[in-house]
Parts: sequence; structure tokens; C-alpha cells
Amino acid sequence: MTTLPGWNFDKFAEGIRAAGITGPPVSRLIPGAVHGTDTLVSNFASVNMLNLQRRDDVMDRLLDATRKYGLASGGSRTVQGVSPAHIEMETTIAAYLKKEAAISFGTGTLANIGFINAMSGTHSFMPGVAMVNRDVVFVFDRDAHWSLWKSVEGLKFGERIFSFKHNSVESLEEVLKGLAGKRVVVVLESVFSIDGTVAPMHELVDVCERYGAVSYVDDANGFLLYGPPHRKFAEEYAGMQRADFIMVSMKKAVGLEGGLIAGPKDAILGFELLSGTGSFTAGMSAPAAAGTDYITKLLAYDEPEIVDGYLAKVADFRKMLLDAELPVTDTETCFSSLVIGDERRCVELFHAYLDEGIRVPPYLYPAARRGQAVLRIIINAAHTDEQLSNFIEVSTKLRDKGLL
Ligand SMILES: Cc1ncc(COP(=O)(O)O)c(C=O)c1O
Repeated sequence: MTTLPGWNFDKFAEGIRAAGITGPPVSRLIPGAVHGTDTLVSNFASVNMLNLQRRDDVMDRLLDATRKYGLASGGSRTVQGVSPAHIEMETTIAAYLKKEAAISFGTGTLANIGFINAMSGTHSFMPGVAMVNRDVVFVFDRDAHWSLWKSVEGLKFGERIFSFKHNSVESLEEVLKGLAGKRVVVVLESVFSIDGTVAPMHELVDVCERYGAVSYVDDANGFLLYGPPHRKFAEEYAGMQRADFIMVSMKKAVGLEGGLIAGPKDAILGFELLSGTGSFTAGMSAPAAAGTDYITKLLAYDEPEIVDGYLAKVADFRKMLLDAELPVTDTETCFSSLVIGDERRCVELFHAYLDEGIRVPPYLYPAARRGQAVLRIIINAAHTDEQLSNFIEVSTKLRDKGLL
């Protein structure tokens, strides 16, 4: 085996191999409730919770768009441009989120990086076409997603980056008080997938407005699941719509790949150049854009009962976890993590579940806080009652053995 002298790859690889990580898990199936190649296991890891790729009408859209527009973008959106499917999807999602305009990106991560790049940098394209944002400071929820923290890595903490306690309105206000006179962008998340919490959006946006800060909400996790008045968290989602910008990822409810930011028309147009991730890398593929447009209309207007049915299943499953007295997180969202704490024990449990035919991914730092590892359970619309009861039986057995 080739070694790189002076680097630690051999030791690191040894450590992760010892923890059972020898490469990515491989599956021959479309991601969903079952996973594997020869041996198939119940899968609680897929974020593609509604399984819509498996519907014939969705697959037809993806295939039609592939034949019509091709699979490759041909270049970045600034240089090569986009397909009519992108424009239709951006218009559909902007209207759904009640924003003037939207711009899509290859992934949600690229949307977040693009937003921070646009809002933090000094951009000068030609005389009269420049934007200087060197003075702007960012205030993050401490538990914000990795992609957001990664985006601000080059900015100095305490000078241009500040953070407030997770979902704490008082803590945000305290930070904003200390930043009077500065241009501030507050970065929020709607649904946190690790602890399943939902941000008190009205109150957080109230504070942003009071202190004249721009608000940006990462809604990667709740897009198309929450919002309608008859569903849980309708109030929080009404609050989210008051934010200046809303970012979504297509990876979760839509079940494809892509990201998008919706907001004021001029700013969205500005992001075409200012984001960098619109100019220097590929965007969403046209089939993903066509599929996302179709699925957005399906879930938002034509068949909202798909989501209602799924959320009812989530509620039933949560009750099963609580009845079995398993250490589940407090809020009833579709992210029902089991709180483990110690990282090694969390990885051991991952293997113990796998031995019983169940995949539940361990989330360690930096996905979770240090020493607060969780097993993140996402039920899939296609999970059978038998798979769900088996999960409870196995969990109870592991708990009785003292592992959980
Ligand atoms: C809160 C949050 N933001 C951003 C992302 C990144 O989205 P994507 O996977 O589309 O890059 C994720 C992905 O899981 C997320 O949970």
C-alpha cells in the first residue's frame, strides 16, 4: 500500500476501519426503505423520505426531460445558461415561498456557499458594477448546518462572525444589541435535523426586523413538508415566510438533488454573479429541475395528502418510540433521533442494529455537537408496519442488553 510520509492517513484509515468504515455503503436499489446489494436491510438513513422517484409519473418526467434537455448542463448557469425547466421550477418555488424570485444551484450546500460569498465579499466586475460587502457581519444559530459554517470559515469569529444560542430569541437579541450600526445578516435554520427542533421563526424574525438585520433561513429540511395551516409548525412557517431569503434543498421531500434561494428580485439577479457558485460550477441538471417542478406542484397543490399521510405515519412511529421508552428527541418532526451521547457507543450501536438487519446512521461531530452523538432515524413513506415494529423490537432488545 502506498503511504504518504509525514501525513496521518494510514493511522486515520486504521481508526475508521476499526470502527467498521471501509467505504461508502453500497445499494443496488433506488434509495428508500430497503438498502443493500446481496443482503438487504431496513433503511432508516435515506433522506429521500417520500420515495417519489419510484412513482411512474415522476420517473416519466425525469426521463422526458433527459431526452429533451440532456443530463449534463453544458456549463455554469452564467456561461452556458439554463433550460426552460429551470426557469419554470424557479418561478414555481418562488411563488410557493411567496418571494419575488428564485435562483437554483447544484445542491443546497452550493446555495449556502453562494449566499455567504455574495453577502460577504468585495465584488467588482467593471466600473459602476461593483458591490462591497467587506463590512457585513453574520450572526449564526450555533447549531447551523456544516455547509453554513464552512461558508464563513474565512471570516474571523468575533469580528465578522457571531453566534447565538440554539433557537434562543433572547440570545439573538443580545448579540444584535452589540452590533448596532453594522450591516448584519442573521442566518437561521427552520428544522434542525439532528435534534429535530423547529425554530421560533416569528420571534426570531421580529428581532431581526427590530435591529434592521437581513434574515436568511435555511429550510433544507422542512421544504414542502411543513407550512400549510392544518399541519404542525404552521405558525413557525408563517414566520419563516417573513424572512428576507429562504433557501431550500431538493434532497429531502423532493428526493432529487439541487438547492435554491428565494428572495427579493434584484438580490436574486445579483446572485447570478455574486454567488460564485452560479458561475464557477455546474447547477442542477435539467431533469432534476423538471422533476423538482413536478414534485413541488404535486406536494403543494395536487396531492398534499402524500405529505399528510407521511406525517401521520411519523406521528404513529414516534408514539411507538415513546411507548417503548426509547431516548427519542423531544419535537415531533420527521427527524426522530435517538440520543446516544458518546461517539464510540453510537458507532457500536450502528453495527449492532446492522447485525439485526437495520441501517440507522450515527451522527457524530461535526454533524452533531461533540459528546452528543445521535442515531438519526428517518422513516420512509414505504416502510411497512412490520419494518417499523421490528425497529422497536430490536431497539428494546439493545436497550435491555444495556447498549442503548
Ligand atoms: C440544514 C441543511 N442545510 C443544507 C444542507 C445541504 O443540502 P444539500 O445536501 O442539498 O447540499 C443540508 C443537508 O442535509 C441541511 O440539512
